[in-house]
Amino acid sequence: MTSTTATPRKRLFIRTWGCQMNVYDSARMADVLAPIGYAPAETPEGADMVILNTCHIREKATEKLFSELGRLREAKQARRAEGGEMVLAVAGCVAQAEGAEITARAPWVDIVLGPQTYHKLPEMVARASRAAGAVIETDFPAEDKFDHLPDAAAPQGVTAFLTVQEGCDKFCSFCVVPYTRGAEFSRPVAGVLAEARRLVAAGAREVTLLGQNVNAYHGEGPEGRSWGLGRLLRALAEIPGLARLRYTTSHPRDVDDDLIAAHRDLPQLMPFLHLPVQSGSDRVLQAMNRGHTAADFLRIVDRLREARPDLALSSDFIAGHPGETAADFEQTMDLVRRVGFAQAFSFKYSARPGTPAAGAPFQVAEADKDARLQALQALLREQQDAFNRSRVGMTFPVLFTGPGRHPGQVAGRSPWLQPVHLTGPLSLIGTEAPVTVLAAHPNSLSGLLAAGDAPYDVQPEEEPAPA
Ligand code: 5AD
Ligand code: SF4
Repeated sequence: MTSTTATPRKRLFIRTWGCQMNVYDSARMADVLAPIGYAPAETPEGADMVILNTCHIREKATEKLFSELGRLREAKQARRAEGGEMVLAVAGCVAQAEGAEITARAPWVDIVLGPQTYHKLPEMVARASRAAGAVIETDFPAEDKFDHLPDAAAPQGVTAFLTVQEGCDKFCSFCVVPYTRGAEFSRPVAGVLAEARRLVAAGAREVTLLGQNVNAYHGEGPEGRSWGLGRLLRALAEIPGLARLRYTTSHPRDVDDDLIAAHRDLPQLMPFLHLPVQSGSDRVLQAMNRGHTAADFLRIVDRLREARPDLALSSDFIAGHPGETAADFEQTMDLVRRVGFAQAFSFKYSARPGTPAAGAPFQVAEADKDARLQALQALLREQQDAFNRSRVGMTFPVLFTGPGRHPGQVAGRSPWLQPVHLTGPLSLIGTEAPVTVLAAHPNSLSGLLAAGDAPYDVQPEEEPAPA
């Protein structure tokens, strides 16, 4: 990024917590601030602006934020002692939910902005430099944001994210998203296709469509009628150079026939799907307001696997939702055994203030939640290891995304999103090449290039266990 003489280069540090949507939002905030002279910095010390992009989905988000704000108060004072100024902004879902508390408890915060107001950042920065108190923007209309954000400027690399949908109207009993991200909104098709073409022109080979409820997508098509996600994926698959498509996060209720058919018809649509189920008990699913049963979920999985036999699944689970009995939890374990997941995220239920489940009777004892989560994670870990081992000996295309952790290595991703590494030339980065897998590690695979004489060794890596 270059700076002009009129706008001296200022240092911008963004800390991001939470989901891929937040990672994407942070990149877009950097994009809107670039024209007024802000360039990314690696550390908050000495920065001219610090943005904390927060996540509210699980416990302790607010405490984490306030301890970070405490540290930044000192950094801000140090910056002032040097004769500079540090603009401090809190963005994301905690900002949306707790704006008033933030400005009351941390009056040194200059800007509080919800997820739908990032396009107003430059104006807020200008107002903050004039205002005595904090500038707060926590409005909801997502339409406004997408209309006003500039074309993505910073290239994201070989794999890129593209937000197509935001918000959620599902109101699951435990979840803050409908309150923090607001009602469901889908971006019009034309803007999505244009952004995808720009990403590909900037070097992306894989695009992951993002949305809290991405498969509820119903964006306005070029002829004025609404398109579903299946149709959008078909149009994206026609972009030359776009080798791989993914989407996340989906809801079982919105998996429609056309989306299943897209998995059958589009080789670009990768055979890996994150489809949260949360529980295997119909009683709990009902208490969660999920709008589907365990049998519905299993039927959807069968249909998807029929459409795309090599499809692997990932999911989210909550252990210990209010009212969950030991028998309900056993049904979750049964569902996991029946499906066989390649990967999964599992959480202990934590009450989020303002959500229906937080005030529900029959909260599960902490010790029971712990025990259930441990049992569930052990089973899911076993399944993930089995899935990784099942790839050994297979040859499949790997999309190379960057250098590996050790000198001489390149790293990429399997079709099932597993990290793959091997010894090979950096010129592979940005290309897809067939790899024969020789070893499975806890969170990755290693192998040999399958084409040619393959003069590369295997260099297995030690990996830390997942968090
Ligand atoms: N407690 C525990 N897990 C939660 N999640 C969302 N809200 C809560 C909560 N209150 C989990 C769900 C969701 C994932 C993103 O986070 O499993 O799918
Ligand atoms: Fe939250 Fe997902 Fe439920 Fe929406 S569908 S309320 S984002 S868990």
